[in-house]
Amino acid sequence: MKTWKIAVIAGDGIGPEVIDEGIKVLNTAAEADGTFAFDYTYFPWGCEYYTKTGKMMDEDGIEKLKEFDAIYLGAVGFPGVPDHISLWDLLLRIRKSFDQYVNIRPVKLLDGAHLPLVDVDRKDVDMLFIRENSEGEYSGAGDWLFKGQPHEVVMQNGVFSRKGTERIIRYAFETAKKEGRSLTSISKANALNYSMVFWDQVFEEVSAEYPEVETASYLVDAAAMLMIKDPKRFEVVVTSNLFGDILTDLGAALAGGIGLAAGANINPERDFPSMFEPVHGSAPDIAGQGLANPLATIWSASQMLDFFGYENRGKNVLQAIEQLMVEGEVLTPDMKGSASTSEVGSRVAEIVGTLIANEKK
Ligand code: NAD
Ligand code: IPM
Ligand code: MN
Repeated sequence: MKTWKIAVIAGDGIGPEVIDEGIKVLNTAAEADGTFAFDYTYFPWGCEYYTKTGKMMDEDGIEKLKEFDAIYLGAVGFPGVPDHISLWDLLLRIRKSFDQYVNIRPVKLLDGAHLPLVDVDRKDVDMLFIRENSEGEYSGAGDWLFKGQPHEVVMQNGVFSRKGTERIIRYAFETAKKEGRSLTSISKANALNYSMVFWDQVFEEVSAEYPEVETASYLVDAAAMLMIKDPKRFEVVVTSNLFGDILTDLGAALAGGIGLAAGANINPERDFPSMFEPVHGSAPDIAGQGLANPLATIWSASQMLDFFGYENRGKNVLQAIEQLMVEGEVLTPDMKGSASTSEVGSRVAEIVGTLIANEKK
C-alpha cells in the first residue's frame, strides 16, 4: 500500500482547529479507499514557537520538509508577532524555497453555498484562479533608507522575470487547454509601465502557441468590478502574486465565503513538496472557540488527493462538502449554522466514507 508522507504545520489561531478536520477527512478517504494511507509528521512552528525560540521555524526547517510528499498548512500569524516577520519566515519562505510558483485557487460556487449576488446565475460563478506565487510584488526586494529620519525612503520592488512570467502564463494556458475553457489575464499596464507591460507582452507571446484557447485581458480595477457584475466572463484566470491575493479574497466572498476558499501551492515539476492550505488566515478573532469553518481546509485536502492522482477521491470530498451544505444542518456560524468546527469535519468525513463505500459496491 502506498503511504504518503505529509508534513503538518497547523500554525496559529484557527489553524490547528481546521487542520484536525482536514486530517479527519483525509484519513476517512484513505481508509475507505483502501489503496493508500497517510503518515503525518507534525511541526510545532508558528507564532507561539517564535515567542519561545525567536524563530518561526527551525533553522534547518526547509531541509526537514524536503523529504515529504506534501505540506498541509493551517494558517500563520498572531497578534504579538509582526505579520511581515511571521509570514516571511514561514509561509512565504516555504513557497519560495520549494519553488511553488503556481497557486491554484478555485472560485467556484458549490451546490448549497451562499451566493451573495442578485441578477447572477449560480452556475456563472465558476472560475479557476492561477496566481503567480514566487515573485512579482512579493519579491521581497527593496530597502529602507535613512530609517526614522525625516528624509527616510522606502522601496518595495516588483520583480517580474522572463522565466517566472512565462512559466505561470504557460501553466495557465495548459490548464485552460486541458479544461477546454477560456483564459483571462489580469494586469495593470496603464499604470505599471514596466512590469505589467511586460506581463501583457508575455501573455500575447505565449497565447500564439495556443490558438485553440480563447483569451481575454483586463485591467485589475475593471476585473474587480466585472467579477461582481458579470462573473461568467471569468473561467481560467492568470494573474500576478498581489492581484491574485486580493482577487481571491473577493472571489471567496462570491463563492460561499472565506470559510470555503481553498488553495494549493504547487511545484509542478515535483522537485519539492507542494503545500495545501486554506486561503484564509489565522482568524484570531474567533480562534479557540470551535467557530471556525473547516471546509476551506477540507477542500484543500481534496486538492491534495487530486495532486497525488486520486482524482475520484478528491471529487468525493467535494461532493461531501456539497452534500453537507445542501443538507444545511451541520454548518458553522459563518454559514448561518450552529455546529462546531469538529462537528462539521466529522459530518463531512462520514459522508465521504459513505460515498466511497457506495462507489465500491
Ligand atoms: P483572516 O482570513 O484570518 O480573517 C478575516 C475574517 O474572516 C475574520 O473576521 C475571520 O474571523 C474570518 N474567517 C477567516 N477564516 C475563517 C473560517 N475558516 N471560518 C470562519 N470565519 C473565518 O484574515 P486577517 O484577519 O486579515 O488576518 C489574520 C492573521 O492571519 C494575520 O496575522 C494575517 O497576516 C494572517 N494570514 C495568514 C494567512 C495564511 O497563513 N495563509 C492568510 C491570510 C492572513
Ligand atoms: C494568502 C495570504 C498570504 C499572501 C499572506 C499571509 C502572506 O494572504 O495566502 O492569501 O498574501 O499570499
Ligand atoms: Mn490572502
